[in-house]
Amino acid sequence: MSVDVLLGLQWGDEGKGKVVDFLAPKYDFIARFQGGPNAGHTLKFDDKKHVLHQIPSGIFRKNKHNIIGNGVVLDPVIFKNEVDSIHEKFKINLHEIISISNKAQLISPVHRLLDKVLEKNKGDNKIGSTLKGIGPTYQDKIGRHGLRVGDVLSKSFKDKYDKQKSYHDYFLDGHYDDNFKLEEENFFLSVQFLKKFEITDTEYLINNNLNKEKKFLAEGAQGTLLDIDFGSYPFVTSSNTTTAGACIGLGISPRKISNVYGIFKAYCTRVGAGPFPTELFDDVGDTIAHNGNEFGSTTGRPRRCGWLDIPALKYSVMLNGVTHLYIMKADVLSDFDEVKVCTGYIYDGKEIDYFPSIIDTDNIKPVYTVFPGWTSKVNESRRYEDLEDNFKNYITFIEDSVGVKIKLISLGPDREETVLLD
Ligand code: GDP
Ligand code: IMO
Ligand code: MG
Repeated sequence: MSVDVLLGLQWGDEGKGKVVDFLAPKYDFIARFQGGPNAGHTLKFDDKKHVLHQIPSGIFRKNKHNIIGNGVVLDPVIFKNEVDSIHEKFKINLHEIISISNKAQLISPVHRLLDKVLEKNKGDNKIGSTLKGIGPTYQDKIGRHGLRVGDVLSKSFKDKYDKQKSYHDYFLDGHYDDNFKLEEENFFLSVQFLKKFEITDTEYLINNNLNKEKKFLAEGAQGTLLDIDFGSYPFVTSSNTTTAGACIGLGISPRKISNVYGIFKAYCTRVGAGPFPTELFDDVGDTIAHNGNEFGSTTGRPRRCGWLDIPALKYSVMLNGVTHLYIMKADVLSDFDEVKVCTGYIYDGKEIDYFPSIIDTDNIKPVYTVFPGWTSKVNESRRYEDLEDNFKNYITFIEDSVGVKIKLISLGPDREETVLLD
């Protein structure tokens, strides 16, 4: 009777979609517990690539049920587009395999507009939000005037929508235009579409099935360093991206969490603004970005790239209680003469080995350990024994530094390009 959690240990885009799809055959249910369409989870199989934003990454495996939990913020317009596109491309009928929490919050055109205006007002201090309305929707939730998915079933849904909108009229006065009216029309059409899905108390669905020994995989979005409490605030998202977020976002007791799979890239990336101690501004950074095709799956923005940051990784492992480490995109570092790993920092003139919470780029300098590189032959390996020694040394160094074993090595975007260790 347990739930395993898979989540990102860095600033998002670690490859969560690929691994959830890879692991899904072992589970009965896949459940998203936080975030919304700011996520872009990429899956690749049979030479086809697909990016999911609102929908859990278990939908391409047979006989899996997928849950959108109460901790999620859901945009009905994006949801409808995704469902339609999956039906067209893969002929999968998602109505039968998705249940949505009646307590998940609804993202409306008002939230998207608020995101745009708020971010613009921040000027040079902007966060680099995906502008999907995430922050304003969570604000309304905590402010206790959110609209929930369950509200779409109410006869007075339009009144509820108007009431919520009116809370923001003062701030948005002068910003409602013809385009906004079109977005509102589309929103109400998409809400009708949403009503055809099972909207229910997913906390009962989950706990009743846990009592029947069904297996659950909770799929995180974003990454630990974007967590609203522990991330590099204020350059974060608006939800708890950590293991504890899975309990709140699905309605499960912490006692039911079993394995925590922490996934990280063999290097680091970040999209949007905020501190990034190991960021590279040279050709090496450009090569990583090029080899790793580091462009945002949701916004298409170039991702900032840098070396692996061990103090940050240890911080994330501590916060999440990670039991298994999964290393992703190791193929991207193949054919480098040398590979660096940050093991500490010079922070305000002193050497430290922890991840400080207040960072500006001027007061922190990474301290690196340098490793000889490995060749791209590694990319073809499918068994640990076949990996080159230089690469194995890199893996062992990370395990020893962090104190958790690496149990999966990803060497390409495809499902098949994966080495699972016992
Ligand atoms: P997520 O948000 O954590 O699901 O990650 P994204 O899908 O946003 O970004 C990860 C990107 O890397 C996607 O384009 C994946 O197809 C790709 N990817 C995943 N694993 C690997 C890997 O091991 N090697 C390479 N080269 N690409 C990978
Ligand atoms: P996945 O699930 C990477 C970043 C944005 C911005 C900050 C706040 O694909 O890993 P928001 O839209 O939440 O207001 O943006 O967080 N961000 C992500 N970065 N991957 C994501 O999701 C992200 N979701 C949000 O770029 O810096
Ligand atoms: Mg992503």
